[in-house]
Amino acid sequence: MAIGIFDSGLGGLTVLEAAQRRLPDVEFIYLADSANAPYGVRTADDIYNLTCAAVQRLFDAGCDLVILACNTASAAALRRMQEAWVPADKRVLGVFVPLIEALTERNWGDNSPPREVEVKHVALFATPATVASRAFQRELAFRAIGVDVEAQACGGVVDAIEDGDMILAEALVRSHVDALRRKMPDPQAAILGCTHYPLMEASFQTALGPDVKVFSQGHLVGDSLADYLERHPDKIGGGTAAYLTTGDPARVSDRATQFLRRQIIFDAA
Ligand code: DGL
Repeated sequence: MAIGIFDSGLGGLTVLEAAQRRLPDVEFIYLADSANAPYGVRTADDIYNLTCAAVQRLFDAGCDLVILACNTASAAALRRMQEAWVPADKRVLGVFVPLIEALTERNWGDNSPPREVEVKHVALFATPATVASRAFQRELAFRAIGVDVEAQACGGVVDAIEDGDMILAEALVRSHVDALRRKMPDPQAAILGCTHYPLMEASFQTALGPDVKVFSQGHLVGDSLADYLERHPDKIGGGTAAYLTTGDPARVSDRATQFLRRQIIFDAA
């Protein structure tokens, strides 16, 4: 019995880890499309086609529910997939909505009209494709009024993390935070809108300073998945736990083991 978790690469492990902690009895099949990462510099059509292919691989492995633990795919492809591609007996969910519900102080599925919320100045750090999609601002506008969002496309950070070059990743985080501050000097909150970025959360927090509340997705997605499964226990699906990659399994296993500080062994997808 397994739930699928998909990301272009290693970032979704930050969501997987939180989901495993929250749901210790549930098995997960993780798929990293490492051969095609990063997605954040691709076109929306490209992201849609790659994401459908990866999700199909998880359906074939027995999953009935797949979480896109990738903001880029959630922003650029999810709505189109749900409207035109996902079979009636399967579900694909994204990672945006739980984050926005937390930011706007809402409980799961609260669809009441938009209202004023505590935070007024929000910095969004995400991939170029996520920023270009404006999906975050759209979802936020359904729930909150009067929130000023400044988005910073963080080119290069995902590549550096996937390559294990944490010195470069850290330097890029600092320069993206500086660039954001030139546009919004005093953000109250910062959204890490890419599942790779929690791996650099300490660098973001240091660069932003202690007064900025940093939101990252792992535990928020874990909680909303637990809530969803309580209401849809039939969606736990079949298949057995596995880590799959379209890239080089040895290389991806090394990086994943380094990030999660426990041994992770990937197999070829
Ligand atoms: N981790 C992903 C995200 O949340 C994908 C990054 C990428 O492949 O560019 O956006």
